Amino acid sequence: MSTRRQFLRRGAAAALCFGTGARSENAPNDFLDVAKLPRYVDPLPRMKKAAPVAGKNSNGIRYRIAMREFLAKVHRDMPPTTMWGYDGACPGPTIEVQKDQAVSIEWINQLPARHLFTVDHSLHGAEADKPAVRAVVHLHGARVAPDSDGYPEHWITSGQSQKCQYPNAQAATALYYHDHAMGITRLNTAAGLMGLYLIRDESEDQLNLPAGRFEIPLVIMDRSFRTNGQLLYPVSDMPGMPWVSEYYGAGILVNGKLFPYLDVQPRRYRFRVLNSSNGSFYPLSLALDTSFLSPDLPYLQIGSDQGLLSAPESVENVILGPGERIDLLVDFAPYVGKQLYFRTKHAYFMQFRVSNEKISDNSLVPSTLRKVERLSESAAVQTRPLTLLDDQDRLERSHRMLLNGMHWAMPVTEKPVLDSTEIWSFINLTDDSHPIHLHMVQFQVLDRTPFDLQTYFLTKKVVHTGPALKLEPNELGWKDTVRVDPLTVTRIIVRFSSYTGRYVWHCHMLEHEDNEMMRPYEIVEA
Ligand code: C2O
Ligand code: CU
Repeated sequence: MSTRRQFLRRGAAAALCFGTGARSENAPNDFLDVAKLPRYVDPLPRMKKAAPVAGKNSNGIRYRIAMREFLAKVHRDMPPTTMWGYDGACPGPTIEVQKDQAVSIEWINQLPARHLFTVDHSLHGAEADKPAVRAVVHLHGARVAPDSDGYPEHWITSGQSQKCQYPNAQAATALYYHDHAMGITRLNTAAGLMGLYLIRDESEDQLNLPAGRFEIPLVIMDRSFRTNGQLLYPVSDMPGMPWVSEYYGAGILVNGKLFPYLDVQPRRYRFRVLNSSNGSFYPLSLALDTSFLSPDLPYLQIGSDQGLLSAPESVENVILGPGERIDLLVDFAPYVGKQLYFRTKHAYFMQFRVSNEKISDNSLVPSTLRKVERLSESAAVQTRPLTLLDDQDRLERSHRMLLNGMHWAMPVTEKPVLDSTEIWSFINLTDDSHPIHLHMVQFQVLDRTPFDLQTYFLTKKVVHTGPALKLEPNELGWKDTVRVDPLTVTRIIVRFSSYTGRYVWHCHMLEHEDNEMMRPYEIVEA
C-alpha cells in the first residue's frame, strides 16, 4: 500500500464513514479541536428567504443571486471565518417557490481571483490553464432543461453570470442548489457555495403540517478549522497532487453554526434536513441526554429527496448521505422543560430546549401524505449493470473511483430514450458506501442484494450470496440520490421524461466526483 493510499484511506476502513470530530495524525499544528469549544452557546440561525427582483417577465419570477466572499461567525468563541456563499451567506438564501410557478435566476460570479483552497491541477477539468476560480450552479433534484442544469464544464469566471430557467413542474419538496464546477466542486462547496430551494404545492398545503416558525430547515455539513478560525481543507502528501479521497470535517455546522441550540415549544415541528457534507453519512438520531447509553428517541419521517412519502414512518435513526434530504416531524410535547439533542453515531451537534409553556398545537399528523405509486419492474425496457470501482495504479501512485470503469471524457454510454423506463443496477466493487445521484430525474430504489466480490472479479458475473435486503419503509418514496453499499448490487428504477439532452450522474462524495466518479448521460429522442 502506497503512502498516498494510506494517507487517503486513513480512517476510511468502515463501510460508512461518519464525521468523527477526531484529530487525525496528518493534521497541521494549527488544527482547531472543535470538540473543546463550549457547546450550545449560539442560537440556530435561520436562512434568509431569497427576495425576487421587482417585476416578472415571460420567464416568471426573477432572482439575481451573487456568489461572494464573506466573513462568517461559526461559533461565539471563534474568530470570523472567510467563506464563499450565495448572496454572501452559507447556507445561501432559501428560494421558495410554488409548483408550476416558473422562476429565472441569474447567478453572478463575484468571487475573488484566488481560491480559498489548493486546486489540484492534475485532475481532469482543473488543469493549470483554467482559471482557478470557476463556478457553475446546479439545482440538485430539479427537473430542468439541459442548458439550465449547470453542466460541470459550463462554468463561469468572476464577473460573468449564468442564467437558468426553473419551471418547477414537480411535486413539493426540498431541493439543493450548489456549485458543480468541473474538478473543483468539492472545494467550491466546502467553501460554502450551497443553499436550499423549497417547492410548495397545494396538496402539501392541505395537510396542515407545522408551518411558519414551526417549519425549520436544517442544513448540516461538517468542516474542519484552523485555530485562526479559517476553514481547513486537507491536502495529500503527494507533490503536485493535493487531492484527498475523502473529506470528513471535525465539527458539524447546522445552518452555519457549530453546536447551535434552538428554543422550541412543547409542540410539533417540521424539520427539512439536508446533508451538505462533502463525504460524511450521518445516522441521525435524537436523544434526551448526551450519554452514549441514552436511547434513540422515535421521530417521524414524512418525506425523502423528492417529496412526501405515502405515509409517515416512525424512525429512530435515518442514514443521511451527502446530497440527501429528509423531511421530519418531531413532537416536543412529551418533553416539557427538557433538553434534547441531535446526534450522529459519534457526535452530539445540536440542542433543542423545550419551554415550559402551555401550548395548543393544531398541526396534524395525517395518516396518509400522498399517493406514491411504486414503479413496476416490468415497465423497464432495459437494465444497465454499472460498476463502482476503486482504481489504483501503484506505479503512477494514482487512485480514484470510477463508474463502470470509465473516465468523464470517454464517449457517452448511457443513452436512455425519452419517456422510457430503465433499471440502473449499481454493482459496488469498493469497500465504501457511495451516494449515487442522477440529474433531472426522480427514481425509486428497488433493492440492495449482497453478492460475491471474488467471483465477480474472476468471472465478471454477479452471484448473489443471499436474498435482497428489505428496504426500510422510509426508503420507498421518490429519490434522486441513493446509498450504494459495499458488497451489494443496488437497483433503482427511473423514468426518463420531460427533456432530451446531456445531463450527468455521479457519486455525491464530492472528492470522488471531482476525480472521475462522474459521467455524462444523454436522454435521446425515440
Ligand atoms: Cu448535488 Cu450533480 O449534484
Ligand atoms: Cu463515491
